[in-house]
Amino acid sequence: MYLVLHGPNLNLLGSREPEVYGNLTLDNINQQLENLAEQLGVELIIEQLNSEGEMVERIHQTLEEEIKGILINPAAYTHYSIAIRDALVGVELPIIEVHLSNIHAREEFRQQSVVAPVAEGQISGLGIDSYLLGLQALVNL
Ligand code: DQA
Repeated sequence: MYLVLHGPNLNLLGSREPEVYGNLTLDNINQQLENLAEQLGVELIIEQLNSEGEMVERIHQTLEEEIKGILINPAAYTHYSIAIRDALVGVELPIIEVHLSNIHAREEFRQQSVVAPVAEGQISGLGIDSYLLGLQALVNL
């Protein structure tokens, strides 16, 4: 079982800045992740949360579950949430960080990730493929 965690504002995908994030909705992305998980023979728990505290609590909850790794798009929290970074370190699970857009090619404040140093790896800029490649990599670990 793997946890897929989407951060704030990703519930608006499809209508939110399509020139940056594309036209797929979060449901479209989740459906493709479920399809890939089925091919890989693994199960997913997928959640989208808008607040930092809820994300921290969801990460802690993995301690009570049979979770083997976390695929996370921390969204804006990527750039400044030490609380989410610390929670990820605290649960001692493999982490893959993904982004739809290429955060390194955007505003300066997006070019830093406080999560990346505690993740196994980061995939950024490939749209839905960031998620699909990220899930594949997480399962391979
Ligand atoms: C994002 C990039 C972040 O900078 C932004 O705040 C998001 C989405 C991405 O997937 O490209 O909400 O994580």
